[in-house]
Amino acid sequence: MSDKPVLWLPRRVSDATVARARRDYDVILNEADTPCTAEEIVAMSGKVDAMMPCHSEHFTADVVSRLDPRLKIVANHSVGVDHCDLSALAAKGIAVTNTPDVLSDATAELAMLLMLGAARHAVRGDRLMRTGAWDSWSPSFMVGKQLTGARLGIVGMGRVGRAFAAKALGFDMEIHYFNRSRLSPDQEKGAKYHDSLETLLPEADFLSLHCPATPETLDLMNAERLAQLPDGAILVNSARGALVDENALISAIQRGKLAAAGLDCFKTEPGGNPKFAAHENIFMLPHIGSATSRTRDAMGFRALDNLDAFFAGKTPQDLL
Ligand code: DGY
Repeated sequence: MSDKPVLWLPRRVSDATVARARRDYDVILNEADTPCTAEEIVAMSGKVDAMMPCHSEHFTADVVSRLDPRLKIVANHSVGVDHCDLSALAAKGIAVTNTPDVLSDATAELAMLLMLGAARHAVRGDRLMRTGAWDSWSPSFMVGKQLTGARLGIVGMGRVGRAFAAKALGFDMEIHYFNRSRLSPDQEKGAKYHDSLETLLPEADFLSLHCPATPETLDLMNAERLAQLPDGAILVNSARGALVDENALISAIQRGKLAAAGLDCFKTEPGGNPKFAAHENIFMLPHIGSATSRTRDAMGFRALDNLDAFFAGKTPQDLL
């Protein structure tokens, strides 16, 4: 063994990340690339100084209570940290970092795809083409909802929310947003601020969620809030499944209250909600918001930058 810190990669991150990690650390890689269980995380904590988990590895209070004191830092390969009990990790003296900024554009691009796919019947159209069932055309065939000039409500104007707003401006959408605090005019770029969801929701022909999953945002879009959207609105979620009451969403889709939804995140992952599959106006993707090769390299490098700073005795830029 060298005198390099020992780093566990519980998932197969990008090749460039693995190569750089191997240069600077003694790396243990989970070649199987399966989500690691609580027992595996606990067992590995006695063998390594650092871990670079993804959102698929859960550091619950119970797991954290059983971690070996050898583990000094959890350098997440994700911006979201809802899979980590941050107060339990802090109480145990384990440093935690994440990877903000670098995935904002990729996630915002995917949110645009979700919005467009939901608005223009992508699931049904794709099925018709693949099954050879496209047998007619008429002016009323597959008529969707236009983005241009429509009102877009954004919940959470952090980095991803702002990147999404910038892309939606390219579609000439009228942007409204709700955020804990109002942005500067420079960052607002003409978007209309709402200091409550209650004023935002009735204005949102399209509503896109960009806030973290916390106890306060659990089921943020519940039956009551979905009812406040205009009839025929479209809901987009590229943030976290925890933000949406999925039964309330299905009911709103069934009743035609919502015209469609575009979802990349689900309460149960992997797998998603099997009830959604019956509805072709729910356009779904399997949590791939940040899944571009450029962004995955950038996420891995950002996590390594945080580790390098930590082991050099400096404060990592993304220390939480
Ligand atoms: C994130 O970084 O939080 C994305 O959801 C991928 O894990």
